[in-house]
Amino acid sequence: MKLVLKSPLDMHLHLRDADMLKIVAPLSAESFSAAIIMPNLIPPVSTKEAVQGYRKRIKEAIGGEKFEPLMTLFFRTEYDYEFLEEIKEDIAAIKLYPAGITTNSEEGIDNFSLDALAPVLESMSELGIPLCVHGETNGFVMDREAEFIPIYERLAKRFKNLKIIMEHITTKDAVEALDRYENLYATITLHHLYITLDDVAGGLLKPHLFCKPIAKRPEDRMALRRVAFSAHPKVMFGSDSAPHPREKKEAPGCAAGVFTAPIALQALAQIFHEAGVLENLQKFVSDNAQNIYKIKPPEKEVVLLYEDFEVPQSYSDVVPMFAGEKLKWRIESVL
Ligand code: NCD
Ligand code: ZN
Repeated sequence: MKLVLKSPLDMHLHLRDADMLKIVAPLSAESFSAAIIMPNLIPPVSTKEAVQGYRKRIKEAIGGEKFEPLMTLFFRTEYDYEFLEEIKEDIAAIKLYPAGITTNSEEGIDNFSLDALAPVLESMSELGIPLCVHGETNGFVMDREAEFIPIYERLAKRFKNLKIIMEHITTKDAVEALDRYENLYATITLHHLYITLDDVAGGLLKPHLFCKPIAKRPEDRMALRRVAFSAHPKVMFGSDSAPHPREKKEAPGCAAGVFTAPIALQALAQIFHEAGVLENLQKFVSDNAQNIYKIKPPEKEVVLLYEDFEVPQSYSDVVPMFAGEKLKWRIESVL
């Protein structure tokens, strides 16, 4: 059995910088046609020079591979209209992080009053720049996303022309919010389709499955599967592949992030196949995102075969999800 995916897109990806960038960027570029690149470097990507410089370093890291890095800017309330107008051509979106909520987000937002955010969000609406949001409060870890939904609703209501993407949603609350507001969209990761909190902490602790937002309950996973498997037109695949070196994961203070980029398409094929909805994967992993972001990614064809693929124990010193396990689909070729 064979599956052909056209121009797969990863709409939420961490590529890091320096040596880590050189390890992980080729692994995404190999099988994806484009990806939304997260700006949470140190310091965060928040100037035109930083965006252009980072894009150049990504291009260098992937060599001749056909792959479009879709750059993002780290949200700051200080940006003015002229700056945004000037940087618009260099970015696909702006990413908003609540301060301190996840890796390298210390310079994020701690005041969610709409009046404080309004000048930038109004400029973005006018310029047609989408807003990507890490939607978690600093409440109890299992409730953080659900507690953030009212903020999404306030944003969606007040900024009707702003495309708001709820990044890496993990709850049925977020799934339900999708259909209440025309301008709300979402990305869903691979790991949140596969796991619940039980897989992370129900037995021996699995640091390589620890991420933000934390995986939730079976009913949440079911809601995510429902919209992903039916390729709901407002959801897109965003791996949130977030590499950390092994010593940062297998540590008393384990860094948050699951590394999935090199195994994502194979594992997506497996879970869509098992659900009997393989024909919907193309929409989930590319077509929906093209419609939502209005992008035309480079043409690429990834041919997958229903044959075993043994996931490597590590890629350099980064341990992927399913390390050492067998997946049921493998990539045969990329054209
Ligand atoms: C991400 C990272 O490591 O950059 N970590 C994660 O657990 N997902 C940041 C993020 O997207 O929250
Ligand atoms: Zn992320």
